[in-house]
Amino acid sequence: MTTEASGTRSEVRAAATGGNGAAPPLAQAEPAGALPPAAPRAPAAAGPAWTAESIRADFPILAQRIGGRPLCYLDNAATAQKPRAVLEAVQRFYTRDNANIHRGIHTLAERATAAYEGVREQVRRFIHARSAAEIIFTRGTTESLNLVAHGWGRRHLRAGEEIVLTVMEHHSNLVPWQVVARATGARLRFVPLTPEGKLDLDALAVILAGGRARVLAFSGASNVLGTMPDVPAITRLAREHGVLTVLDAAQLMAHAPVDVQALGCDLLAFSGHKLGGPTGVGVLYGRREVLEEMDPLLTGGEMIRVVELESATWNDVPWRFEAGTMNIAQVVGLGAALEYLERLGMERVREHAIAITAYALDRLRERDVRVLGPPAAHERCGLVSFTSPHVHPHDLAQLLDQEGVAIRAGHHCAMPLHAALGIGASARASFFVYTSRADIDQFVEAYDRAVRFFAGA
Ligand SMILES: Cc1ncc(COP(=O)(O)O)c(C=O)c1O
Repeated sequence: MTTEASGTRSEVRAAATGGNGAAPPLAQAEPAGALPPAAPRAPAAAGPAWTAESIRADFPILAQRIGGRPLCYLDNAATAQKPRAVLEAVQRFYTRDNANIHRGIHTLAERATAAYEGVREQVRRFIHARSAAEIIFTRGTTESLNLVAHGWGRRHLRAGEEIVLTVMEHHSNLVPWQVVARATGARLRFVPLTPEGKLDLDALAVILAGGRARVLAFSGASNVLGTMPDVPAITRLAREHGVLTVLDAAQLMAHAPVDVQALGCDLLAFSGHKLGGPTGVGVLYGRREVLEEMDPLLTGGEMIRVVELESATWNDVPWRFEAGTMNIAQVVGLGAALEYLERLGMERVREHAIAITAYALDRLRERDVRVLGPPAAHERCGLVSFTSPHVHPHDLAQLLDQEGVAIRAGHHCAMPLHAALGIGASARASFFVYTSRADIDQFVEAYDRAVRFFAGA
């Protein structure tokens, strides 16, 4: 991560002008007068040998007890805990480098700009985008998806054309499209699910063959079912029909390596806070040609090129989409989170997600519960949602909390999916890199006690 003031002044000043097309360089040299760099903090046990237990100490919040028991945090799909490296990066930024970006010509402004633009390059590398200009910072997945729906949809969609979504979408990838459909006269179509909780790709093929679809927006990993569809196959099919693809990677990013070129999507949205980064920062990746044909969602600040009293022209991509003062410290924190995950290795993160999900599925299936989503762990991201005939999800979450176990209960911002499954709510246990078998054991044993409590035993 680049929290140091690390660019030559002329390099940083070029970035500080708001760019003129080219993404600013990822600066390297330490300018005169900068503080000595802080030693980067490696994960406690980096490399292929790390385990959930060996890196747990990197996450200070996990050291506490709740209800007299060790905190067993299984609400990672809502938000993940932050490694010390992220906490320190944010504190270091505010302690040494804080200034507004792209505007000042003083040392702190240059440092802050270099740090911010350095993370843009880091994100590019992390998701294998072609250019840092294809990385837009937002507040999170929801804002990224709204930017696409409004910035692309309102400009390109016409009455009678189709927006294709799936039944398993999070409200953040549903409601913006509903609003844009109403505004443009476009029609919403939905890919249904198979009985196993996978996307029905035959039904998708039929919808696309109809010839009216313009955009397909879908989740790379369902936050309820865990389903991870075959993204490259889907984007290939969409491309054959000239359909734009938007990938909601809010859950996918935390559990699998992401290569936007291999995935083949035109746009991709994710949030920093689900990866161990701070809240308030997310990303919209877009192929440059697509971004060039999109309108900004917010206007004002440095997203302009020239402003006159009656009109304004827009800055280049990506700054065109970053109006007002951005969440600079949060961007810096996101950089630290990506660096942390890179050190763990995303392939190994994926292996861990599969192994811990397989263990949770096994332990839950020993019980009388309905597990939602595909049966095989390798087809899922790191979460398990379920219903029990013995205890309502909300009662379960409350009883588990008394034993230090944090799960989520409700519709998880996917009400239409729950309606399609014929249920009002589910309980969800979701995992991250520090989730261990001991966590799963603590959770299922607490579940058993909750069932006994409701049975009056
Ligand atoms: C699949 C999916 N999409 C979108 C979102 C929205 O993310 P955020 O609240 O960070 O904008 C979430 C959050 O849980 C999610 O799981």
